[in-house]
Amino acid sequence: MKKILPLLIAAAFASPVAMAHQAGDILVRGGLAFVSPQTSSDNVLGTGELEIDSNMQLGLTLSYMLTDNWGVELLAATPFSHSVSTAGLGEVAKVKHLPPTLMAQYYFGDANSKVRPYVGAGINYTWIYDEHVSSDAQSKGFSNFKASNSWGMAFQVGADYMITDNIMLNAQMRYIDIDTRATVENDAVEPGTRARVNVDVDPFIYMVGLGYKF
Ligand code: NI
Repeated sequence: MKKILPLLIAAAFASPVAMAHQAGDILVRGGLAFVSPQTSSDNVLGTGELEIDSNMQLGLTLSYMLTDNWGVELLAATPFSHSVSTAGLGEVAKVKHLPPTLMAQYYFGDANSKVRPYVGAGINYTWIYDEHVSSDAQSKGFSNFKASNSWGMAFQVGADYMITDNIMLNAQMRYIDIDTRATVENDAVEPGTRARVNVDVDPFIYMVGLGYKF
């Protein structure tokens, strides 16, 4: 016992309490995700550029720590819903989208840091669906609005603040390069043809919430 006790005391001080993420941890974060499109597009049949409003939904991220500093993350969310308009027409259509995104992440600090800022880069697939022409635009002859899905790069910065060994506060911001081609018909303006416009949606997504480390 005389020999073991000093060893136990030494061991207790040598292995500090792990405050933050380390290799093998699974981090689940949830919160409010606000999508703010930075839209620019071609002119739509002389009515102006397409504009897309912002929207807030529930965001969920799942990260796995490969080492104490490197992780991979998947972003999921409840479907975002946006109104698409032009200056000349008002609301043209409503669309929904889901933006699953896979990121490689680097976390600054170490396994004992209470605050872990991070940066990430990865790839996004945006699935645009449930496009509907607004009744107002329908009455002006517009029909059949469609927007293509998009593959693009994504970048993020964020930080976790450990409240306990397992619960964290999280704030993060992400930029996604979303480029889509929108098409719409108007037989009164251009009979028999589909108007095509290239649209850079390129949103910033802000998310704040809580996380749990398993
Ligand atoms: Ni773009």
